[in-house]
Amino acid sequence: MRFINSTYVALAISLATQSVVALPGIFPGKVLQSRDELLPEYDYVVVGGGMAGLVVAGRITEKSQKTVLVIEAGPLVDGPAEYATLLQPGQWTAAFQYLWFGINSEPNKGLNNRTDAVLNGKVVGGGSAVNGLNYNKDSAGQYDLWATLTGSSKWGWDKFLPYLKKPEDFHPPTPEYKEELGATYDLSEKGQGGPIDTTYPPFRYPQTQAYFEALGAMGVPKTNGSIGRFWIPTALNPTDMTRSYSKIGYHEPASSRPNYHLLPGNQVTKILFDSNKRVTGVQYASGPGETTYTVKAKKEVVLSAGAVFSPKILLQSGIGEKKKLQSLNIPVVADIPGVGWNFQDHTRFDFKFSFTFNRTNDPLELQRNQTYYNEMQALYLNNQTGPLTLTVGNAGCALDLKSFTNTSTYTSILASALATNPIAALPSNIPATVKAGYIKQRIALLASIKASKIPVASFLSFLDFTPAVVLTKPLSRGFVTVNSASPWDFPIVDYRTHSDPFDMAVVTNGIRYARRILQTPPVVPYNPQEIFPGAEVTDDSSLAEAVRSTALATFGHPFGTCKMGKLQEGAVVDAELKVYGVKGLRVIDASIIPVATGPGPMASVYGIGERGAAFILGEDL
Ligand SMILES: Cc1cc2nc3c(=O)[nH]c(=O)nc-3n(C[C@H](O)[C@H](O)[C@H](O)COP(=O)(O)OP(=O)(O)OC[C@H]3O[C@@H](n4cnc5c(N)ncnc54)[C@H](O)[C@@H]3O)c2cc1C
Ligand SMILES: *[C@@H]1O[C@H](CO)[C@@H](O)[C@H](O)[C@H]1NC(C)=O
Ligand SMILES: *[C@@H]1O[C@H](CO)[C@@H](O)[C@H](O)[C@H]1NC(C)=O
Ligand SMILES: *[C@@H]1O[C@H](CO)[C@@H](O)[C@H](O)[C@H]1NC(C)=O
Ligand SMILES: *[C@@H]1O[C@H](CO)[C@@H](O)[C@H](O)[C@H]1NC(C)=O
Ligand SMILES: *[C@@H]1O[C@H](CO)[C@@H](O)[C@H](O)[C@H]1NC(C)=O
Ligand SMILES: *[C@@H]1O[C@H](CO)[C@@H](O)[C@H](O)[C@H]1NC(C)=O
Repeated sequence: MRFINSTYVALAISLATQSVVALPGIFPGKVLQSRDELLPEYDYVVVGGGMAGLVVAGRITEKSQKTVLVIEAGPLVDGPAEYATLLQPGQWTAAFQYLWFGINSEPNKGLNNRTDAVLNGKVVGGGSAVNGLNYNKDSAGQYDLWATLTGSSKWGWDKFLPYLKKPEDFHPPTPEYKEELGATYDLSEKGQGGPIDTTYPPFRYPQTQAYFEALGAMGVPKTNGSIGRFWIPTALNPTDMTRSYSKIGYHEPASSRPNYHLLPGNQVTKILFDSNKRVTGVQYASGPGETTYTVKAKKEVVLSAGAVFSPKILLQSGIGEKKKLQSLNIPVVADIPGVGWNFQDHTRFDFKFSFTFNRTNDPLELQRNQTYYNEMQALYLNNQTGPLTLTVGNAGCALDLKSFTNTSTYTSILASALATNPIAALPSNIPATVKAGYIKQRIALLASIKASKIPVASFLSFLDFTPAVVLTKPLSRGFVTVNSASPWDFPIVDYRTHSDPFDMAVVTNGIRYARRILQTPPVVPYNPQEIFPGAEVTDDSSLAEAVRSTALATFGHPFGTCKMGKLQEGAVVDAELKVYGVKGLRVIDASIIPVATGPGPMASVYGIGERGAAFILGEDL
């Protein structure tokens, strides 16, 4: 698994395998154990019980008498198994057994034809069950950009902020701890009383504090928004320092309501329509070769399968580019060319550094010294403190382009991006409407970047200090598609990383900047030595080769494949997230985001779940 720093992964896997216990056979509440318990029809069927899907189902059943069925491909993990594998941050990689396995991206030209494992949660909770817990909003400029591109006053920072706050129950640190961290936040932008707990873990490695101070030495301001340096709020329950996620926050309260059902372990294979293109229900099965069943939806089907699977399900249900569907003998329900295009993820480049650590400051000590590990695990279990309260380092930094480049670099990167034919980097078979939408998007994105309204890169520190350079606003666009009508075939995932040269320029200059962070006085006592790419690698082309040979195309943050906006600009859903060309179908998940959002998607995706539920319920905050 290449998701996090490889040494830490090896460590966490070795630890996690010691504590995995068998799944209990009995589920509480209204979780269906077999198909026989299903009602013949529901008002709403939600496809995918992940981060956003459970928000939608939770809010509808809370606020109305309407019946909701959630169908989730992965298992419901409860009880001791949940505690062992999902809830403890220090056992993070045990959660990775609940990923979709075997989906590899197409050879990526921008990364020397390498492929990446496509990372998605497959469990009740989806990505919220397996992710790194970092909970960040993006800048106001970013949400305003969504609104500009969507052409709707239903979106934008002012309109979306109440929905960003609604999921959250932020637990502020004590004044002493706030002071000690140097944490900044603005309570007027934080949710309190919502279903998802966020807080700052009680522990940080001294090197993480030094990293935060090093950013200060670089002149990076502390921020309570998203451009600058900050302590990243973590989705943790502050009383026992366990993962707070959509299964606990939204599913559990819903599971005692008579109008809520959840069917885990079943995959939706197709959305069904009548001759008027109105949704009638969905087909599902527990596996290939197993019997396929149908459940009816009286009002709507909500697709919340995430940005990799939602476009796949649409295509295989007959919604997509007509020509494409016909080539696969899929009967066309609606010719919506944008399905699967506009695909984005956050790319990441990792250095290799060596540092000098005191014994217990070295995260590897947990791996090599069983006595020490046992002590730290006891500290976590008995006192909810210590290094096992962490997944990754939580000192964060997100910067606009101007902040990490000098004037001449900044000017030349923007000038060449603006001088580039905007469609030069797109695949030749891209539909005309998608092309038109992308041209508009690229112009608006570059304008926001030039105005320093949005951050374009994050500089995240891992537990051992090493910063990752993360491209958060790529101009490159990939796609997700299918090459068969079979629901059991994996989707085709092509990241097309760095196909737009702007992206590589951001990353190589980000690398230069990250090196400078590690040369500041707060880092000196740790004796940083660059092993890869190596301090002698400084020119653009050598840095680019280092990136092509090692960078990852994905941070597990897929976006944009059913973007909201105008049909003639390649959108798939309108501003109320309704799929064009049919009736009774919405997409409510990270697919609808027009432009990648960072440092992480989680806070935004929960907000989309709340916004989508409010559209369905006819509410408006
Ligand atoms: C390893 C990892 C680490 C991450 N770390 C962070 C982080 O620290 N901070 C952050 O902000 N973000 C992080 N993310 C990203 C974040 O978790 C996702 O952006 C978020 O979960 C997306 O929510 P979603 O509702 O769009 O999709 P998901 O949460 O992926 O939910 C989709 C659900 O649909 C199910 N599904 C798919 N197809 C079908 C089908 N045919 N039938 C039934 N069910 C189906 C899936 O099994 C899944 O449970 C991480 C992601 C991963 C994978
Ligand atoms: C990647 O694959 C393409 C097409 O097969 C080939 O032309 C190109 O040379 C390859 N690039 C590298 C770096 O191997
Ligand atoms: C938030 O940031 C603004 C602008 O940087 C600043 O004026 C304000 O004092 C900050 N608020 C808090 C609570 O830190
Ligand atoms: C391992 O950890 C224990 C407990 O912290 C410590 O006493 C011991 O010295 C460590 N062993 C080594 C070899 O460092
Ligand atoms: C236990 O936790 C408290 C705060 O909750 C902390 O002050 C104390 O230092 C911790 N004990 C140990 C042994 O770390
Ligand atoms: C700006 O930065 C680039 C890349 O680091 C460097 O090559 C160049 O010399 C710098 N220019 C000035 C004027 O400092
Ligand atoms: C621990 O490491 C820091 C940073 O390297 C150093 O300044 C400090 O003196 C060390 N402390 C001890 C007790 O060795």
